[in-house]
Amino acid sequence: MDRAQIIALLQRDMEGEHQAIIQYLYHAYTMGREDLAPEIEAIARDEMRHFDWLADLIVELGGEPSLKRDPVDFSRAAPAEQMGKDVGLEETAIAQYRAHIEAIEDEHVRLVLSRILHDEQAHKGIFEGLVEAAGQGEAVEAGAGAPSAPAGPPARLMEILNQGVRHEYTVILQYLYHSFVAEDMELAEGLQNAAINEMQHMGWLSEEVAGKGAQPDMSHTELFLSRDPVQNLEADIAVEREVTKAYSTQLPEIEEEDVRALVERIRDHEIFHDGEFSYLLKEVREAQEAASPEEDKPQPPPEIPSVGSLLGKP
Ligand SMILES: [Fe+2]
Ligand SMILES: [Fe+2]
Ligand SMILES: [Fe+2]
Repeated sequence: MDRAQIIALLQRDMEGEHQAIIQYLYHAYTMGREDLAPEIEAIARDEMRHFDWLADLIVELGGEPSLKRDPVDFSRAAPAEQMGKDVGLEETAIAQYRAHIEAIEDEHVRLVLSRILHDEQAHKGIFEGLVEAAGQGEAVEAGAGAPSAPAGPPARLMEILNQGVRHEYTVILQYLYHSFVAEDMELAEGLQNAAINEMQHMGWLSEEVAGKGAQPDMSHTELFLSRDPVQNLEADIAVEREVTKAYSTQLPEIEEEDVRALVERIRDHEIFHDGEFSYLLKEVREAQEAASPEEDKPQPPPEIPSVGSLLGKP
């Protein structure tokens, strides 16, 4: 198996992890079972780590991390049924990783895939336990089917919150990709920290949407992806400023005080992101200038000896 074929298999694995992350988060946000949600979210975080490891392997092999996603089942069902779907997804992952470990000879890749497989087997067991637990507790499904307020969820508020969900999902992917291709450790870490913060935002907004009986829109908009750290950071700063403006404009429209406080808190985080990215951009530019060859640098004026310095010369 050559390098290109290994990269292709790892890209497929990334697409499966991406599907799992979104499906599990969707279940955690929409099932209305606060007793089960933390355990599901913990598994989603494991899948995010897998996504990250696979991207690192692909970049090491000279390939392109895939941000495509295998299709997610966004249908609503009773909690036990949803947990059953997740058992099924883990079974698919287990079979796929086994096949890929079998097919790939590269020692390091096999080691990472075996480590992931080990997690997936544990996840399957946890989800099987959650099928049981979900069947036992009372199924308070957030909004699904149950006739809530006669008017239904407030449309404009749902529009604002879902615009936020789409933005947050978009920047999670964009910042993760930028961190995967960053050669500088500090830059990679800064971008990853921001992505983790955006995941929190997506979670808070999605829970709010689902809690009001509407459907969180976990789809993303256009991504800016390049290998140039300066261009990437410039795009990241631009998107942060844009969303800060959007949230600020929408705030006065939000009547419910706790929702307004939530969006305001998110908006404030975005202002910090702008500050952090601007700092990182400055660092990257300085590092590039320091590393650029002599002839590219502005040369100091040539030293022309003064008349005085010539006096007394032998
Ligand atoms: Fe898993
Ligand atoms: Fe955010
Ligand atoms: Fe942000």
